[in-house]
This record gives sequence, C-alpha cells and structure tokens, in this order.
Amino acid sequence: MLPFLRPYRLRVVLAFVLLCLASGTVLLLPLAFRDLIDFGFGQGANTRGAPPHATLLATQSLNGHFAALFGLASVWAVAVAARFYTVSWVGERVTADLRSAVYARVLRQSPQFFETLQTGEVLSRLTGDTTLIQTVVGSSISNGLRSLFQFAGGMVMLAITSFYLFSLNLGLMMVLTLPIILIGRRVKKLSRESQDKIADASALAGEILNAVPTVQAYTQEQRETQRYTYSAELSFNTAIHRTRVRAAMTALIITAVTGTIIFVLWVGANQVQQGSMTGGQLASFILYAALVAGGVGTMAEVWGDVMRAAGATERLLELLHAESSIAETAIAQSLPHPTQAAISFEQVSFRYPSRPETAALDNITLDIPAGQSIALVGPSGAGKTTLFQLLLRFYDVSAGAIRLNGQDIRQLSLHDLRDKIAIVPQDAVIFSANALDNIRYGRPDASDDEVFAVAKAALVDEFINRLPQGYQTFLGERGTRLSGGQRQRIAIARAMLKNAPLLLLDEATSALDAESEILVQQGLNAAMRGRTTLIIAHRLATVQKVDRIAVMEHGLIVETGTPEDLRKQSGLYARLAKLQFDI
Ligand SMILES: Nc1ncnc2c1ncn2[C@@H]1O[C@H](COP(=O)(O)OP(=O)(O)O)[C@@H](O)[C@H]1O
Ligand SMILES: [Mg+2]
Repeated sequence: MLPFLRPYRLRVVLAFVLLCLASGTVLLLPLAFRDLIDFGFGQGANTRGAPPHATLLATQSLNGHFAALFGLASVWAVAVAARFYTVSWVGERVTADLRSAVYARVLRQSPQFFETLQTGEVLSRLTGDTTLIQTVVGSSISNGLRSLFQFAGGMVMLAITSFYLFSLNLGLMMVLTLPIILIGRRVKKLSRESQDKIADASALAGEILNAVPTVQAYTQEQRETQRYTYSAELSFNTAIHRTRVRAAMTALIITAVTGTIIFVLWVGANQVQQGSMTGGQLASFILYAALVAGGVGTMAEVWGDVMRAAGATERLLELLHAESSIAETAIAQSLPHPTQAAISFEQVSFRYPSRPETAALDNITLDIPAGQSIALVGPSGAGKTTLFQLLLRFYDVSAGAIRLNGQDIRQLSLHDLRDKIAIVPQDAVIFSANALDNIRYGRPDASDDEVFAVAKAALVDEFINRLPQGYQTFLGERGTRLSGGQRQRIAIARAMLKNAPLLLLDEATSALDAESEILVQQGLNAAMRGRTTLIIAHRLATVQKVDRIAVMEHGLIVETGTPEDLRKQSGLYARLAKLQFDI
C-alpha cells in the first residue's frame, strides 16, 4: 500500500505527531492522579489540626492540580479530534486513488481478461475490498498505533512505577503472544476466502440482473433465487467461520491479559499492605496497567482487521498488476499516410486462447487497397467477426501478420491503430445517457451540428425527434428504451461521426426492416465513399455494390471476386445467392 500513501506523506507525518501528542497526554494522566492521591489527599488528610494557612495552601494546590488535569484533558481532546480527521482523510483519499487505479488498469485489459474474470467480481473487488482497506487505513491503523503507544508508554511507566511488578507482568505476557500470532494468520486466510465467496455471489447476481427478462420468460425466478441464496449462504458460512476464530482469539487475548494484570495487582496490593509501595503508586500502576490492557485489546482487534485487509489487498493487487495480453510495443512506429487505410492480411492464422484446439482463422491472405470496400460473407461461425477482432488488436494473430498501410499493426501504438478504425459491432452498445451523447461518443469533441448532420445521414434523426425530449431523451441503461433497429442506427451514426479512414460494419443493418435497411444503406454508402470499408453481411442484397466479396467458411477464405463473378461460379456464394434471391 505504500505507493498509495507516499503522495500524502505530510499528512501521515502530521497524523503521527498528533497521535504522539494524544498518547503522551493520556500517559501523563495517571501521574496526575498519583500526585493527587499522595500529595493532594495525603496532605489534606495530614493538615487536620495544623495551622489555618496550611489548609489554605493545600486547597490552593488541590485547585491547581484539578486545573492542570482539566488542561491535560483539553489537549487530549483536541489532539484526538485532529488526528481522527487527518487519518480519516488519508484513508478516504487512498481508497479513492486505489479505486481509480484499479479501474484504469481493468479498462486496459484485453477481452481475454474478461473471458476468465466476471465483471461482477471486478465490481466486488472495486467496492468491497477497497472499503475494507479504507477501514484499515482510515481508522484501524491509527487505533492500532495509538494502542501501541499506549502499550509501549504504559509499559515504560509501569517499569518506572514499580520495576518488580512490571517484570512479573512482562514475563507472563511474552508467553502469551505466540498463540495470538498463529491465530492471526488463520484469520487472514479465512478472510480472503470469505471475500472470494462474496465476489462469487455478486458475479452471479450481476449476470442474472442483466438477463431478468429471459429469466422471467423461462420462469426461472425461483431457481435463480435458490442459486443466489446458496451462494450467499456459502459466503455466510465462511464469514461465520472467520468470526468464530476471531472471537476465540479476542477471548483468549482478553483472558490472558486481564488474568496477568489481576495477578500482578494482587502482588502489588500485598506490597502496599507491607508498606513497600504508596497507595498513589499502586493507583497509577493500576491506571497504567489498564492502559496497557486496553492497548493490547485494541491491537488484537486491529490485527484482525489488518489481516482481513491484507487478504483484500492481495486481491486488489492482483487486478492492479494484471498485464494485458496485448502488449504495447516499446517503440511505437508512426503510421504512414494516416488519412487512409490499406489493409493486408498475410497468411493469418488464429486460435482463441480459451479454445486452442480449433483454428478460428486458417491461413487467411487478403489485400484491401485504400478506399476499397469488401464484403465478408459466409455461414455464422466462419470467423468473420474474428477478423475484425484481430484488426482492432483485441487479440494478436497466432501466425502471420496484419498490416495497415504496410506497417505491422503490432508495431503501432494501440491508440494510433484504433484511432483509425470506426466499428459498428454486431450487438450495438448504447450507454445510459441521452441520444446526443450516445452519438457523440464516436468523437467527443464534435459540435452539436456535426452530430445532427450524421444523425440525419444515419436516419436516426426522424425517430429521435419523435422521442419525448428529442436528442436529450435518456435512452435507458444499455439502451433498453430503444428497439434493436434503433440501437443499430445510433451505433452507425456514432461510427460515421468518428470519421476514421477504416470502417468496419459487423452485420450493421441486420436488425433493420427491409425498408429502413435500404434507407440506412444509402447513408452508409455516403459514409463509405473514400473510406476503406469491410462489411460483414448476411443479406447478400446489401452487398451488391461493394468492390469485392470474400466468402468465408470454417476459418478459410473459400472464394473472392466481384459479386457478378462469384454468381457465375458454382461455389458457396452462388449457392447462398440462389437461396436468397430465388424466392
Ligand atoms: N472469445 C472466443 N473464444 C473462443 N472461441 C470463440 C470466441 N469468439 C468466437 N469464437 C469461435 O470462433 C469461431 C468464429 O467466430 P466468429 O468470428 O464470431 O464467427 P462469425 O463468422 O459468425 O462472425 C466460432 O467457432 C466461435 O465459436
Ligand atoms: Mg459474427
């Protein structure tokens, strides 16, 4: 955690100073009591029968003593309040920084990362684990330090007050530390397990909440509830197990410490009776012993918290140090001719890391000159979307190379590469924002007028204007308040706004009715002019105007040619075309 504390070291030092001040005051209090008993009351008791001015003196010093006591208490109060504020501030600050750092790291991960780690789990780490750390940094550690000071200072004062009683005390305590440390380790392990279980439960809930309509349509509410209950039950059991161990640890510590102290006090009381110790000394010894015992009690509890947070920190650091499987090059080359895009796939083969036994793409070679349009057609599962994923470098090719303007895309920075690509994905993503901002996502610095212009071209204008608040209408989380076709048109407008030299359309018009499809196609044709375009399409009618068609099947390119050429051959394309056009 140190790297996260370093920027606030001044505050940490300040908190430390305040802590010392508060602890120092607390340690002085028993001394004041000792004097009060031995001199204040003692003298007061002795002045009975003495001349009147002696009584007056005693009263004055008594008043002075109480005034000093109140003074000490006030310093203590202010120091405690200031420390509380400073330490909490550092705790909140570190948590916020940690959350952003983890989030930034997670956002840079390749899709492969999310194939293994569920988003619900990431969320649980971001909120639950960081909250644990906040408790520890923002209160437990300072409580622990305070207790440590109380403990250490108390020990010193105990030694000064009565070395004999102190040695007795110390010997007994040393014997008792070892089992406490051992139990502490166990708590840490159990804590990590319990956090993992909570994360599992939230991952499950996250997935199901995203699919409520499907769950209800298949009337699986009860089964899903049972699944979640079971998962919550598991985390309950681990948590209770942890709590049991911790409770036992607390009981053990309290018994050990108070037992020791009572024993030592018993010895001390005997000493006072024999006259080898004053009543005031024993009183201050009792107060110091109470401070020490309280200190140990809190430290034990804090130790439990710290161990819990250590488990949480481990999980967070895992995220924080996660390396994306897509490595940025050390020395990024600049892209030649950045305003155009010529693509070439050179003997590209690819296997998904999660499915290494089958080749998703097998020795693909394809050249697309700048400004040309090419359609990828073929049965689903042929590997068309995979080609797009490789172009965007969500995955790296297993063999061969992909070049943009002659430059291997692995030699470009991810930003430069993706900056040149506008994509309309297979399932259009809509953010929970209004229509205007959803389109503007393609180019955040675009003016309102530019957004309206592409909206007209992508035919979103007419339906957005019919929404209750026009472009300001909130589209719902994941665009739940739009139809599939409307979502697609917004995604198209967003891609057109980006104005990148390479346009990727993955079944971009598949959710549209025939009439809108023809209209949107006109908009797209305008967008494709002067751009390199790759279109994945199921309906062959939509790709009759492209320069070339590549037909894919089982990860291979089986035919390429112009639409007319391919129709004349008797291959896969001719078969598909016959099915689609001869109805
Ligand atoms: N993330 C993934 N992990 C493993 N296999 C995948 C993944 N995505 C797609 N595939 C597989 O790769 C093949 C090609 O998929 P895809 O490129 O999406 O086909 P399509 O031509 O329909 O777009 C399919 O067999 C699919 O099951
Ligand atoms: Mg696909």
